[in-house]
Amino acid sequence: MARIFSGIQPTGIATLGNYLGALRNWVALQQGDDECVYCLVDLHAITTFQEPAALREQTRQMAALLLACGIDTERSILFHQSAVSAHARLAWIFNCVARMGWLKRMTQFKDKAGKHQEEVSTGLFTYPNLMAADIHAYHATRVPVGDDQLQHIELANDIAEKFNHDFGVAFFPRIEPLVLKESARVMSLRDGTKKMSKSDPSDMSRINMTDTADVIAQKIRKAKTDPEPLPEHVHDLDARPEARNLVGIYAAITGHKVSEVLHRFAGSGFGPFKEALAEALIAHIEPIGNRTREYLKDPTALDRILQEGARKAEAIAEPIVAEAERLVGF
Ligand code: ADP
Ligand code: NA
Repeated sequence: MARIFSGIQPTGIATLGNYLGALRNWVALQQGDDECVYCLVDLHAITTFQEPAALREQTRQMAALLLACGIDTERSILFHQSAVSAHARLAWIFNCVARMGWLKRMTQFKDKAGKHQEEVSTGLFTYPNLMAADIHAYHATRVPVGDDQLQHIELANDIAEKFNHDFGVAFFPRIEPLVLKESARVMSLRDGTKKMSKSDPSDMSRINMTDTADVIAQKIRKAKTDPEPLPEHVHDLDARPEARNLVGIYAAITGHKVSEVLHRFAGSGFGPFKEALAEALIAHIEPIGNRTREYLKDPTALDRILQEGARKAEAIAEPIVAEAERLVGF
């Protein structure tokens, strides 16, 4: 049995990108033999300022959404990161293991900080060290991620290797990223070159997992496209990022290959294709939104679920991080 770790920031409502790139996979992984540890990463969330009351509320919302997607607390551990101090303690040790040059190469930091590298929090810069700690605190070896996170997994492996080397032990294992093939990355509905994100300022750029049927239909109708009909061959989508994204989403949500989708819609304009896409999305997402709203009616029960999850998480992480601290000389 291996252990799986994955996390999501409670900074807004999960999007279709989070769902197809991560959450759907999290649910499927519960059926396997591995132990699944799923974390609402509120320590990561505060690398950019979060309104305190909103952060607490969004943590509950994300818990409700994960339960609505099918995370089963009988099979998986579901908790929020700040409830288990082992994450922050191991992250500090990793801050002292990772090298400045390694972090400076992280493309996600460059994307997020943009021209403001001098003004962003130091936490945003060391974010990948905390992510490495999240995983290594559980000796997790399998990590489902979107392909945007692959560089962070490599860094987590570099940190583990240097820790093991510096302290002369084989303590932290290698991590294997698990990336979904079809539509691992969902792009913005307004710009096919940017990833769909819950932190994008434009709500029209994304499908939220709690959007109603009307809103989903409207967002797909207004999604950016080009004037050409859908092509016959997959490679003809290469220079058409918006078309490729919508076809990819349709393939992922219906469980078909991109080539099969094109076989059905080749020569068609976006009108009928978008109608079919909206219908498929609504059938999939609307029930998840409804279940999320049901869970949110009982915030006390959600808090209790997260606390129970935190106790189970702590039982695994505490002895591992205590041993790391001993190895360091504490
Ligand atoms: P966001 O960027 O929406 O704030 P997070 O950083 O919390 O999302 O990421 C949570 C998980 O969702 C990660 O595994 C990440 O790879 C995945 N993910 C986020 N956005 C997308 C996307 N547009 N397409 C595919 N996967 C995504
Ligand atoms: Na992100």
